[in-house]
Amino acid sequence: METLRLADDEAGLARAAALLRGGALVAFPTETVYGLGADASDAAAVAGIYAAKDRPSFNPLIAHYASADAAFTDVVPTPLAEQLAAAFWPGPLTLVLPRQPDCRVAEITGAGLATQAVRVPAHPLAHRLLQAVGRPVAAPSANRSGRVSPTTAAHVLDGLAGRIAAVIDGGPCAVGLESTVLDLSGDRPALLRAGGVTLEMLLAHARDILVPDSADQTAPRSPGQLLAHYAPRLPLRLAAETVAADEALLAFGPPLPGAGAVFNLSAAGDLTEAAAQLFAGLRALDTLGQSQGLRGIAAMAVPNREIGCAINDRLRRAAHPAK
Ligand code: TXA
Ligand code: MG
Repeated sequence: METLRLADDEAGLARAAALLRGGALVAFPTETVYGLGADASDAAAVAGIYAAKDRPSFNPLIAHYASADAAFTDVVPTPLAEQLAAAFWPGPLTLVLPRQPDCRVAEITGAGLATQAVRVPAHPLAHRLLQAVGRPVAAPSANRSGRVSPTTAAHVLDGLAGRIAAVIDGGPCAVGLESTVLDLSGDRPALLRAGGVTLEMLLAHARDILVPDSADQTAPRSPGQLLAHYAPRLPLRLAAETVAADEALLAFGPPLPGAGAVFNLSAAGDLTEAAAQLFAGLRALDTLGQSQGLRGIAAMAVPNREIGCAINDRLRRAAHPAK
């Protein structure tokens, strides 16, 4: 299969919507990362996502909608869900809620769970695409399972060219990290994945959020968070205070001297800019480091506050891929 590269204009959108309605796989930009879309109500189309990504079938997918009203026809919102939707949708927040009895989303999308993750993305192109499709769209990050998430159309093609029908090229993603996943199906809200909507932002609405300790393997978390993730091919060393000439440096703020290659997440030490650059930086140093025969990537520390928590979560996973 040859993968079409579609422009982010009316013709590209119309083509993408028609492909999705016909059961094909189409990658598209969201404000977080590129998603690999399929009609979430079409079990065969969704099965194609798992196959194209080599994704384990027990790892559930998020259904995407053009509006909160549309999302809440498929899942049962709680009062807190409605409050958070009003505050953060469209935007980088995913809510896990019980499925409605007449939920349109195929069971395979939620990996057979009683809950379904739903999100209303803020990217204008994603919004127009979802409106044109008129059905829930299942979309994991558009990378091969376990690899670094894509923030450009070129990243998508790196992993999925020849395996999907098309990708819409909408330029780089603004947030650069996946959405925050909050489980509202239990007694207390549980943060399953740190992301674009920070814990600080959520705490303004709900004070009793369960936050899993990243070291505690028994804490509540998404099925997907147990897996190897975001793995560059070169080994990654965290909180580096020095760097060797045969290492690549992922810098934050003024770079450490002496590295064989440098990618600066944010020279100014800005966390939002660093989040947007993280996956592109890991990919760039991985490629450069391998071509220059470097032995690994050293990452400087990033402050653990606001979106820095999500950056550190992704860096820890990249450093310790659970094989
Ligand atoms: O920003 C994002 O969320 C991107 C864009 C494309 O929207 N999508 C994304 O999807 O990151 P994915 O599949 O790469 O990550 C979804 C995460 C996984 O960790 C999965 O296990 C979790 O959400 N998840 C999905 N449905 C769930 C459910 N019903 N219960 C618990 N966790 C769930
Ligand atoms: Mg992913």
